[in-house]
Amino acid sequence: MSTSITLTRPDDWHLHLRDGAVLQAVLPETARHFARAIVMPNLVPPVVTGAQAAAYRDRILAALPDGMAFEPLMTLYLTEDTDPDDVAAAHASGLVKAVKLYPAGATTNSASGVRDFDKVRGVLERMAEIGLTLCMHGEVTDHEIDIFDREAVFIDRVLDPLRRDVPGLRMVMEHITTSSAVDYVRAAERNLAATITTHHLVINRNNILVGGIRPHYYCLPVAKRESHRLALVDAATSGDARFFLGTDSAPHVDAAKETGCGCAGCFTATNTMSILAEVFDREGALDRLEGFTSLHGPDYYGLPRNGDTITLTKGDAVTYPDKIASGDGPVTVFDPGMALHWRVA
Ligand code: DOR
Ligand code: ZN
Repeated sequence: MSTSITLTRPDDWHLHLRDGAVLQAVLPETARHFARAIVMPNLVPPVVTGAQAAAYRDRILAALPDGMAFEPLMTLYLTEDTDPDDVAAAHASGLVKAVKLYPAGATTNSASGVRDFDKVRGVLERMAEIGLTLCMHGEVTDHEIDIFDREAVFIDRVLDPLRRDVPGLRMVMEHITTSSAVDYVRAAERNLAATITTHHLVINRNNILVGGIRPHYYCLPVAKRESHRLALVDAATSGDARFFLGTDSAPHVDAAKETGCGCAGCFTATNTMSILAEVFDREGALDRLEGFTSLHGPDYYGLPRNGDTITLTKGDAVTYPDKIASGDGPVTVFDPGMALHWRVA
C-alpha cells in the first residue's frame, strides 16, 4: 500500500475566484497547490472583452500573496454582442485561453448569457479557425425542463447540434453530473472533453436534501442520484484523457448561502487535493490521479504540463478549517462527509 505519491503539480480547469475581498481570501487556497487555473468570467458585470480580462488578470495577480506563484488562465464571457475580432486579439496576445458559454439564466450571474445561438455563430466559427476552446455550462434553462434533466436535454438540444454545425470547434463540457454526459463525451472522437468537479465525485442529491436542507451542498448543475455519481467516479478514475479536473470551486459568503434563496456553489479549493486522493485511493486508482489533475487538462488545451511536482502523504486524519475568513464574511469549506487521510506535503 503506498503512503506517498508525487504528482506533476496540478491545474484547475474551472475555478471561480470572484473579486475584491473574496478574491483576496480564496486565491491562496488555490495557489497553495495549483499552478494554474481557468478563471471563470461570471463577475458582475461579466468579463466580456479582452480589456476586461486583462484588468481582471491584473487584479488577481495583485491579490496573490508574496512568495506564491500562480498563473490565471483567463476566459471571456460569451454574449450575443461579443465581437469576434476582440476575441481573436485576446487569444493571439496569449491572454485568453477559453470562452465561456452560459445559456442565459442557467446559473449565478448568467443573465448576459446566450439565448439565440444563431447570434454567436460568427464568434464560434472564428474560435474554431483560431483553435480557441469553448467551455460550456451544459444545462438548458427552459422552465418546463426539470432541473435534474437539464444537462441531458442540453446534450440533445444544444451540444449535439452545435458540434455538427461547427465541427472544428474545441469544446469542454464543464462540471458534468450525469452518466448521459459521460457516455456522450466517451463517444466523441475529437474536439470534446469534460471537466469533473471534486464535489460531484463525493455527493449525490441526498446530501442536499435528506434530514434537512443543506445549502453548502447546493451547486449547479445540481448533484444527481447515486448512479450518476458512480459514473463520474468511473470516468475520472478511468485514465481516459477526455476527463480532467475542474473544481468549480465557487465561493459565496455564508450569508448568501444560508438564506431563503441561497446561491449555488461549493467551495472546495482548500481540501480538493486531499479529497481527490481519498476518492482515487478508495477506487484503487491512485496511479491515475496525476492524469486527472495534472496531465489531461494541459494536453487538451495545448499548454505545457507543469515542470514541478507536489507530494501527498497518507497518515492520520487531515484537519482543515471549516471556514475561510474574508472581508465580506466567512466562506464555508466543502465538507466531504468522510475522513481524509492524504495531505499535501
Ligand atoms: O454552483 C455553481 N456556482 N455553478 C455555477 O455554474 C456557477 C457557480 C458560481 O459562480 O457560483
Ligand atoms: Zn462554474
